[in-house]
Amino acid sequence: MTGGSSGIGLGIIKNLKSQGIQAVSWDIHAPKEGGSFIHCDVTSEHAVQLAVKETVESFGAPTILINGCGLQFMSPIDEFPLEKWNHLISVMLTGTFLCSKHVIPFMKAAGWGRIINISSMLGKGASPFKCAYVAAKHGVLGLSKVMALELAGDGVTVNSICPGFVDTPLMREQMARQAELNNISEDQVAQEVMLKPACIKKFTTVAQVAGMVDYFLSDAASTITGEAFSISGGWGMGQ
Ligand SMILES: NC(=O)c1ccc[n+]([C@@H]2O[C@H](COP(=O)([O-])OP(=O)(O)OC[C@H]3O[C@@H](n4cnc5c(N)ncnc54)[C@H](O)[C@@H]3O)[C@@H](O)[C@H]2O)c1
Repeated sequence: MTGGSSGIGLGIIKNLKSQGIQAVSWDIHAPKEGGSFIHCDVTSEHAVQLAVKETVESFGAPTILINGCGLQFMSPIDEFPLEKWNHLISVMLTGTFLCSKHVIPFMKAAGWGRIINISSMLGKGASPFKCAYVAAKHGVLGLSKVMALELAGDGVTVNSICPGFVDTPLMREQMARQAELNNISEDQVAQEVMLKPACIKKFTTVAQVAGMVDYFLSDAASTITGEAFSISGGWGMGQ
């Protein structure tokens, strides 16, 4: 699991472990409360190859990959720094490509595999000031469909989860930045910006995203591939 040291990824790992599934976080930060962790910057192919090697040696050949790491940077597009653009695309899109590329051979060998990519509702729609994030998350959905096609004969499914807003450190940072950009309070950001497109005016929980992962891993989902499931409180339904 990439990005398994915080927020959504940490919740997914805890949930998998509670079911007896071995799970390790590939992340640039160790989880604050401990747990299985391999240092890996997913933007580096060499680092990904080393993480795969260490995973195989410590846990055995991986047959499940959850690409979950991510970050946000917000700015009007005409002021958006190129290095921030490159970094966000490298972590969320290139990182998903690299980790998949190096784990897929083990899935093919096993004749079974599950790749689950954490995209976003911003993989399906747009939001101002988030050009790199929106481009990366749309890219993840396209990449997922290509992988789903290529791997359909190997027993490997590839699906994406598109959350609206989930209460995590990443979301809290955005709330503060949106408050600054729009000159309003964080409570107003929650109600008037973040939850505005949702018909259920509640943030999604990490446990709910982990539950969707469980579904994609289950036999019930074995003929579902190349899909992008929203978990967003009915985002955009009333518009
Ligand atoms: N929180 C939300 O509202 C929300 C909504 C939609 C989608 N998402 C997506 O869910 C995923 C998890 O988000 P979160 O809210 O749990 O964020 P988070 O900030 O809590 O966790 C993100 C993790 O990614 C790791 N990471 C960052 N750069 C990395 C790199 N180069 N290599 C390896 N790991 C790296 C971070 O260290 C961190 O542990 C992200 O892909 C995010 O875009 C989140």
